[in-house]
Amino acid sequence: MKLNSLRGMQDILPEESHVWQHIEENARGLLELYNYNEIRPPILEQAELFLRSIGEDTDIVEKEMYIFNDKKGRRVALRPEGTASVVRAYIQNSLFNNPSPQKFYYIGPMFRYERPQKGRLRQFHQIGVECFGIAAPSVEAEMLWILKQFFKKLNLKNLTYEINSLGCKKCRPSYKESLFNFLNHKIENLCSDCQRRFVKNPLRVLDCKVPGCREVLKDVPVMIDFLCNDCKTHFFGFQKELEDYEIKYSVNPHIVRGLDYYTGTVFEVTTTMLGAQNAVAAGGRYDDLVGYFGGPKTPAAGFAIGMERLVELSKDNLSIESKKPIVYVAYAGKGLDREVKRVISEIRKEGFIAERAYEDISLKNQLKKADKLGVEWVIIVGEEEIKSSLYKWKKMKEGTQGEAGLEEIIKLLREGR
Ligand code: HAM
Repeated sequence: MKLNSLRGMQDILPEESHVWQHIEENARGLLELYNYNEIRPPILEQAELFLRSIGEDTDIVEKEMYIFNDKKGRRVALRPEGTASVVRAYIQNSLFNNPSPQKFYYIGPMFRYERPQKGRLRQFHQIGVECFGIAAPSVEAEMLWILKQFFKKLNLKNLTYEINSLGCKKCRPSYKESLFNFLNHKIENLCSDCQRRFVKNPLRVLDCKVPGCREVLKDVPVMIDFLCNDCKTHFFGFQKELEDYEIKYSVNPHIVRGLDYYTGTVFEVTTTMLGAQNAVAAGGRYDDLVGYFGGPKTPAAGFAIGMERLVELSKDNLSIESKKPIVYVAYAGKGLDREVKRVISEIRKEGFIAERAYEDISLKNQLKKADKLGVEWVIIVGEEEIKSSLYKWKKMKEGTQGEAGLEEIIKLLREGR
């Protein structure tokens, strides 16, 4: 039987994982400068956590959750996103008692049972950020600034920053009513999913990608025309901050996001380089979620970047050296294993990636292996060398060779000569 990975779940092989590591290291370095600290919530959670936070009528909950009963019959789910888990951890560990703001980041896999296509997987990875305790729009403006810095570091171009406001408990109901009245006249033109969504949560119709529904939505009323004074002030404040940061953005009143927990600001960073799956990062404010799960009322905001999309966009822009051995330590003769171990460990101690033969093979075959690995240097340990403490070295590309003590060889390696 041939066993393959599951559909929509891919191996990240070493030739690509060094790009992932480069991106992750850059993200960690940057986020830590802004005092975001890493949090690592579990991948499996009570299903209820996602059902209640993301919303019962969203695509994620309706169709895309990996949800099952564990051995005790508890309903559990593979996390489809990180925000709900971080909110749970924040409440469960009473992190609200720590000085505000509390700022977290996470890097890891998420799971959504979507139809796989380029840039859309069932196991994908996010770099996510959540900030708790600040109601001012300076938080989400700084988030867009961080994203801009990050993308600049990765040499990414052609990115568009779009923002919107989804209002709050005070102003959203009147918008919902207006949306309901608008759609009510056109219900027969909506797809069957939207006819059902329309009754439970008309906002979800705005998300629909079915062409018939898009047509209906052409002149749909938009939330920003219904914002209360507080939401308006917040949204203008946010835009003012973006101008201070000199971030070019556009207001897109059709961004509603596929998750129900958002309040006020939402944003998306998109690219024209990825075809249909064009969102590289997205996020927004969720001021009601901590309170909703029983924590103290706490304003919060965050975003997540899709790693696979980021890797796809940046791998050709970045000149990242793949990690491969620089040195091969070979032996000429029997019983030299101990000396090979000593020499190679000194070389590794100096930070050089080094390889050796683990089995008993001829010097000729060792040199062939070294050549295939593309190492820069070969160092040969033989009985004579042990006696004299002078090892033969060979620089593969140049074909130069010589004899030197280990200290001298390490000096040569450092100098790259
Ligand atoms: P999201 O928009 O669902 O938001 O996902 C964020 C990013 O993850 C997307 O922009 C996209 O780049 C990537 N992504 C989503 N689904 C897939 C997939 N199936 N395959 C590949 N990449 C994907 C969230 O998840 C929110 N938790 C973001 C957030 C954090 N909001 C506040 N805090």
